[in-house]
Amino acid sequence: MLWRPRPISNGMKKLIVANWKMNPSSLKEASFIVKDIEKKISGYKNAEIVFCPPLVYLSMLKKISRSKKSSFGAQNIFFEKEGAFTGEISGDMVKDSGGKYVILGHSESRRMGETDEIVNKKILSAIKSKLIPIVCVGEEGRDVTHQYLQTMKEQIERTFTSIPGASFQRIIIAYEPIWSIGIHAKREAVPEESMEMVIFIKRVLSDMLGKNFKEPLFLYGGSVHPGNARGFLEHGGVGGLLVGHDSLNVKKFLKILDASNDQ
Ligand code: PGA
Repeated sequence: MLWRPRPISNGMKKLIVANWKMNPSSLKEASFIVKDIEKKISGYKNAEIVFCPPLVYLSMLKKISRSKKSSFGAQNIFFEKEGAFTGEISGDMVKDSGGKYVILGHSESRRMGETDEIVNKKILSAIKSKLIPIVCVGEEGRDVTHQYLQTMKEQIERTFTSIPGASFQRIIIAYEPIWSIGIHAKREAVPEESMEMVIFIKRVLSDMLGKNFKEPLFLYGGSVHPGNARGFLEHGGVGGLLVGHDSLNVKKFLKILDASNDQ
């Protein structure tokens, strides 16, 4: 049957995505994290969680998962369906392993050579595999003359070219200002900067797609921690968060989920 895009129906719920990156180092540890979070999950009425573990753990974690409030995703896919592509995995394989989402265009993948054009092909491929793409975008830096807005505009246009307007109902865009992430971060971004960029991205997309444009869900994802999660959810113009480092620490992750309960 032909798959048709339909809205992501999480209503007012906040989507909190755990990007575990290349952690933890064993399936046993990964299972503890999922179990510990799921023990408390029923208390977080306003949150839906997406665990994005290393792919080798995905199907086992999906099997042990007991909560309807959690789903699983991959951290990347390749754009071809199958074939001689050593080391790569397809969207269909993620789907078959129990994945529902896939993170695409993460700044760490882009740093290793992934271009906007490749991310674009991966989005199309994810849609074909009926996965929900979580597409990361963000600028390297900000300058007083606002040249970064032009850079962002070009990134958005290349990344989302030829994606049908209706598909945006099942696309998630994660805004990750690269200058605010990691040990070399200049400073933390503030919610108003996220809000401003979300409005800007929507404008670029609606200029591209006209009346066909259906608003996607936006996440904020740049060094989210218990101290700033609430601010981004309240004032960042987003419906959820993409959490890196602190999603592996159960106590901190639960505090981040607390922020969603107040919304
Ligand atoms: P971080 O990661 O939360 O550890 O800064 C964010 C990301 O890279 O997605």
